[in-house]
Amino acid sequence: DGPKTFSAALLAWYDVHHRALPWRVSPQDRAAGVAPDPYRVWLSEIMLQQTTVAVVKAYFEKFIRRWPDVSALAAAPEGEVLAAWAGLGYYARARNLHACAKTVSRLHDGRFPETAAALKALPGVGDYTSAAIAAIAFDEPAPVVDGNVERVVTRLEAIETALPRAKPQIRAKTAELTPPKRPGDFAQAMMDLGATICTPTRPACAICPVRPFCTAARRADPERFPVKEKK
Ligand code: ADE
Repeated sequence: DGPKTFSAALLAWYDVHHRALPWRVSPQDRAAGVAPDPYRVWLSEIMLQQTTVAVVKAYFEKFIRRWPDVSALAAAPEGEVLAAWAGLGYYARARNLHACAKTVSRLHDGRFPETAAALKALPGVGDYTSAAIAAIAFDEPAPVVDGNVERVVTRLEAIETALPRAKPQIRAKTAELTPPKRPGDFAQAMMDLGATICTPTRPACAICPVRPFCTAARRADPERFPVKEKK
C-alpha cells in the first residue's frame, strides 16, 4: 500500500493513544460491534461546551447514575436538573438540556434523531453538537469543528485568515479530511490530538502522527496559528 492518508495516520495513532473517557466507546470495542449510546454522547457533548474534560467526568457519571436514559432525565423536575448542574455554569445549557430531553422523550419516542440536520432542530443543539452526535453516535461523516480542531486545521493549512473569518475555510478543510469510515473516531481523534499534541503553546510536533501533512510544522512556526485579528 502507498503512503498513508491523513485520516489513516490519525486513526492509527488514536487506536493506541486515545483517551479513555466515560462517554466513549474505545476503537477496539467499536470494532467488536459496541455502538455508542446517543444519550451519553449528547449529554457529554452538552457538558463539554465551555467546560473541561477533567471537570465534566464527575458530573457525567453523576448524571448517568441518577438519570440513566433520556426519558428519566425528561421526567425529572427542572429544579433537580439545575441543582445537579450547579458548578458547570451557563444555566441556559441546563435548561436546554432538560428541554431537549423532553422533546426527544415525548416527540421522538425516546430516540435521538440520527442525522446532523435533524439533531440541529433540538433545543441547545447547534452546528458543533449536531455534527458531533451524528458522527460519534451514528457514523455520519459530518465535519466536527471545535476549538481544538480549529487550531489543528489552521496549523495544517497555515491559514493566515484570523478567526472567526476563517471558520468557513476550516469547516471545508475538516469536511475534506473526514473519512467515510470511522468519522466518529476521526472527530474524537482530532480533539485528542488538539488536547494532547497540537496544544496552544509548545505543540509536540516531534511526536505528532500527522506532522508530514502539516504546513506550519514544516515552517517551524505552529504557535502562530490560529492567527489573531489585528486590533
Ligand atoms: N470535547 C468535546 N467533545 C469531546 C469528546 N467527545 N472527546 C474529547 N473531548 C471533547
